[in-house]
Amino acid sequence: MRIISRPDVLMLSFLSIISFASCFKGEVHLLIARIAFDKLSVDNPQSIEKAEQLLQTLTKSYPSLTEKEKNHPFVECATLADDIKYKGGSWQSDWHFTDIPWFEKDMQSTKDSNHQDISKSNPENLTAVVPLMVSWLSSNPQSPKSPQKHSDENFVREKILSKFHNDEQISRSFGLRLLIHYFGDIHQPLHCSSRYDKTHPNGDRGGNMFEVPYHYGSNDLHGVWDSVLYEFYESIKLPLADDSWKHLGDISQQLIQRQQIEDKDVKNLNVTQWTMESYKLAPRAYDGIIPDQKLDEKYIQENLKMLERQLVLAGLRLAHILDVIFKEQSREQLTLLQQMRDFVEQKDGPKHHTDEIKMISLNEMENLLIQ
Ligand SMILES: *[C@@H]1O[C@H](CO)[C@@H](O)[C@H](O)[C@H]1NC(C)=O
Ligand SMILES: *[C@@H]1O[C@H](CO)[C@@H](O)[C@H](O)[C@H]1NC(C)=O
Repeated sequence: MRIISRPDVLMLSFLSIISFASCFKGEVHLLIARIAFDKLSVDNPQSIEKAEQLLQTLTKSYPSLTEKEKNHPFVECATLADDIKYKGGSWQSDWHFTDIPWFEKDMQSTKDSNHQDISKSNPENLTAVVPLMVSWLSSNPQSPKSPQKHSDENFVREKILSKFHNDEQISRSFGLRLLIHYFGDIHQPLHCSSRYDKTHPNGDRGGNMFEVPYHYGSNDLHGVWDSVLYEFYESIKLPLADDSWKHLGDISQQLIQRQQIEDKDVKNLNVTQWTMESYKLAPRAYDGIIPDQKLDEKYIQENLKMLERQLVLAGLRLAHILDVIFKEQSREQLTLLQQMRDFVEQKDGPKHHTDEIKMISLNEMENLLIQ
């Protein structure tokens, strides 16, 4: 595997800052969608066509919601879920994370923390939303209750329909945009964890409460990890200009080349496992750092490769899921979807327990990475 060549990526980012006005964050989400787009364009262009057809439905009916989309809607729509959070779209804010607790060494037992808070898990979390969304989008639009027999219990579909006057097609078109975004979130370790220590007995909300000196748009650990450790911090103007499209394409190619991901990892459809992979990586975010101090180059180098891998994995898994959603219904697909539904019905979520964190050794985390 090639050694990470951070300077070239930084150089590309630097050049693009000169040419693009600042608009909003979200480069990582655009890159993930671009990786999925490129993968599908080669392997199964029909899935891209079908996805873009579905996206069009919302574009036609709600031009103001989709004004950032033009020539590359599949990629340009990837930031919508964040853009609307403070503009009337906060009803889906909880869907962006699954805050599974873990305990720092200074917390000897759950007694040191606010117990009630820990046991109060949120059933409408990212890990629950993704399979419900996939299951809904792959069901037949004419009879959305099939093949999912419990579709009336699908709170994701119900909630979105209620926002779009019960219009099935428009709701699906909006739902697909959210799904593209959530694939990024579920692969970001700090979207799947909350650290409990003496200073934060109620958890630190995935590093949102861990302050770091302001740099490249972030002043907390969560933001730094969202930007893949300052690698992709820039604001890219949307709709994408031709040179931005090329810029994203170049970076996504570089990332795919240096992160060789095994097919079995891409094809793993167990969303609980995706969440646990992210969760187990989260303690690394805090290793060797102190609040309000600049993150040093050693820390960045130690975590960058792993976060880049998570980003590429998100893009490739998104491509695979869209094939599952848009390919002609096959026996295999129905079985896979059945498995995804089983997860939610069994309420088979990760356990909250101090023992959990003891199990997580650095060795185990390393094993999650393909070297
Ligand atoms: C996430 O949602 C699932 C299913 O609703 C639930 O079983 C689980 O406890 C939730 N996890 C957290 C950490 O909130
Ligand atoms: C998904 O993974 C979890 C955690 O490893 C496991 O408990 C569960 O049985 C898996 N679900 C399926 C359908 O394989």
